[in-house]
Amino acid sequence: MPENATAALDTLKRLPRVALATLPTPLEDAPRLARELGVRKLLVKRDDLTGLALGGNKVRKLEFLLGEARARGADTIITTAGMQSNFLRLAAAAARRLGMEAILLVRGSADAPLAGNLLLMRLFGADIRFMATEDPYAESTFALMREIEDEVRQRGGHPYLIHLGTFSGALSAIGYVHAAVELAEQLRGARERCDHLVLAVGSGGTYAGLLLGLRLAGMPCHVLGVSVNAPAEDHRRRILEKIRGAAEILGSAVTVRDDDVDITDAYIGAGYGVPTAAGLEAIVQAARAEGLLFDPVYTGKAWAGVVDAVRRGAIGPRDNVVFLHTGGAPNAFLYASAIAGRLVPRG
Ligand SMILES: Cc1ncc(COP(=O)(O)O)c(C=O)c1O
Repeated sequence: MPENATAALDTLKRLPRVALATLPTPLEDAPRLARELGVRKLLVKRDDLTGLALGGNKVRKLEFLLGEARARGADTIITTAGMQSNFLRLAAAAARRLGMEAILLVRGSADAPLAGNLLLMRLFGADIRFMATEDPYAESTFALMREIEDEVRQRGGHPYLIHLGTFSGALSAIGYVHAAVELAEQLRGARERCDHLVLAVGSGGTYAGLLLGLRLAGMPCHVLGVSVNAPAEDHRRRILEKIRGAAEILGSAVTVRDDDVDITDAYIGAGYGVPTAAGLEAIVQAARAEGLLFDPVYTGKAWAGVVDAVRRGAIGPRDNVVFLHTGGAPNAFLYASAIAGRLVPRG
């Protein structure tokens, strides 16, 4: 283990945290998919099975974010994301699980059909406020969050603000430092190495935490992030900030070199939430080879990135690949006709 890592991992254990996830999530062998892909071994880290409200990667982040919220005496979380955000679904459910209120600032129109994650946010009784912007970093969003914060205070409540892309990014990444330590233990237990870990990148918090956590755990592994929304350079910059912030929270001197952050933006297609042919093909392939459920917004595009990396030779036939399944299944149903269009009957 690298010098200083033990102290950082001790600090990790002492950070305020609430129990929301069923851990450890399984690390499953996927031999048929490995064969189709053309690699020595494929292990799927099943963070779609984190347990809360259909699972997904955001549950691990919420354990630390809501841990801090609780430690500060908060009773209301105020947060924001897109209309079909998996994070908002899970934030709403987590708030309920802890007896807290959730106020969600959703990018989009109030006329949107009540379906997918938006339906689930309502089902979990969140107070949903819509806003017109499409920009996750719009100044107007922060102004609105502060207004709602005042509103909650005025009625005697105790608000806690979460913005994954900015001020909550480092703490949210801590959930994935923890996941990386868990993964390293599972790999050691199975006597397997990790040549490449591949995952979808939205805000970059998951990637940041994993890379830092693998370094702290002394587990060498190339981590490939597949952007679903933004240029690779933007992600790299934000991920490095999150890594620095997370290392600071842990009091860790372990550093990650800039060029260790490997992000590709080649599989976004026409944009965030717009299915690609390769992403849809990935959904069918994973479902038919292993009974795994990927989605067109995140995991399908990430898998398309894996397939292409093997095709290009960036991932070799003797390599061990770990694919992080980050969840997102509720979204698959929003794209029923796009998925159905790829289903060639068998037989
Ligand atoms: C299903 C799923 N996969 C991957 C991601 C990306 O995670 P991150 O925002 O930490 O990059 C998200 C969230 O954006 C998600 O909901």
